[in-house]
Amino acid sequence: MIGDISMKVGFIGFGEVATTISKGLRDKAVEIYTSLEGRTPRTCSLAEKTGVNICEDQIEVAKNSDILISTVTPSQAVEVARAVGKYSKGVYADINNVSPKTVEEALSYIENGKTVDAAIMGSIKRLGFNVPIIVSGSSAIQFMKLNKYGMNIKVIGPEIGQASTLKMLRSSYTKSVSALLFESLYSAYKLGLDEELLKSLEETECPGFRESAISRITSSAFHAERRAQELYEILDMISEYSDPMISKATAEFFNMLTKKLGKLEKTPEDYKNIFERIQK
Ligand SMILES: NC(=O)c1ccc[n+]([C@@H]2O[C@H](COP(=O)([O-])OP(=O)(O)OC[C@H]3O[C@@H](n4cnc5c(N)ncnc54)[C@H](OP(=O)(O)O)[C@@H]3O)[C@@H](O)[C@H]2O)c1
Repeated sequence: MIGDISMKVGFIGFGEVATTISKGLRDKAVEIYTSLEGRTPRTCSLAEKTGVNICEDQIEVAKNSDILISTVTPSQAVEVARAVGKYSKGVYADINNVSPKTVEEALSYIENGKTVDAAIMGSIKRLGFNVPIIVSGSSAIQFMKLNKYGMNIKVIGPEIGQASTLKMLRSSYTKSVSALLFESLYSAYKLGLDEELLKSLEETECPGFRESAISRITSSAFHAERRAQELYEILDMISEYSDPMISKATAEFFNMLTKKLGKLEKTPEDYKNIFERIQK
């Protein structure tokens, strides 16, 4: 609550990001809204377990929310903005991993013009509700009001595209490192050398390397399809400035992983489960 007024935050899409942010906000008495129309059992279960208000459809969510956050798969960012653009009464934030061009296109459908380009700068799985989020755009300051409820949001500029540009550059690095780590550890696993490789890298890399390496591999497997989509967004952006080779290979890697693993029900606990599944 700020004063007597209760803040209402809506989510379009209710996966890992929406669940994590909602739990933190809900604990600070923020009212959370989403719609489960057309969604899978996983999404329905996440929203129900989190205990959020369920609306008939996304339009009702848009009409109810002071802040509406788009947390869908990257390929849907434009489509959902188009669907609710006329009805969004408050601030609309696109937090999906999409290129500045896609953010601009999505936000162009928000008729009241109160828009925010937002980007998560870290692993929400590891850092939770406190994960750093950068924002840009004319309504960025209004979005930053969520810091009063414990979020970690920083405004980086007044223009749409500034936050997503930085995010794309960061992601081309982090996702390519994850793919390389997966590939090396998988070969080591097949040779019975995975434990030795992890020990050796632990000595030369940063503290906490093992935990973060395993988390990178398990989340790469779980989010393979979404990561491939994100890599195409990255390619779209960086192709304007260079001839990307590593990011292109990383996109192919995540496509291959999607085909080999199919859709996983939940994030695997251990990298070995994933490697065994690939071998079959
Ligand atoms: N997870 C992270 O660490 C992280 C970090 C930074 C940025 N992001 C970005 O944040 C966004 C959400 O990520 P996430 O990890 O929460 O993904 P997720 O767990 O895969 O959840 C995506 C959600 O969007 C829903 N959805 C897909 N298409 C939709 C549509 N047309 N209308 C309404 N809902 C739709 C999905 O529903 P169904 O599955 O039921 O169809 C699901 O509930 C992504 O764009 C991602 O790039 C994620």
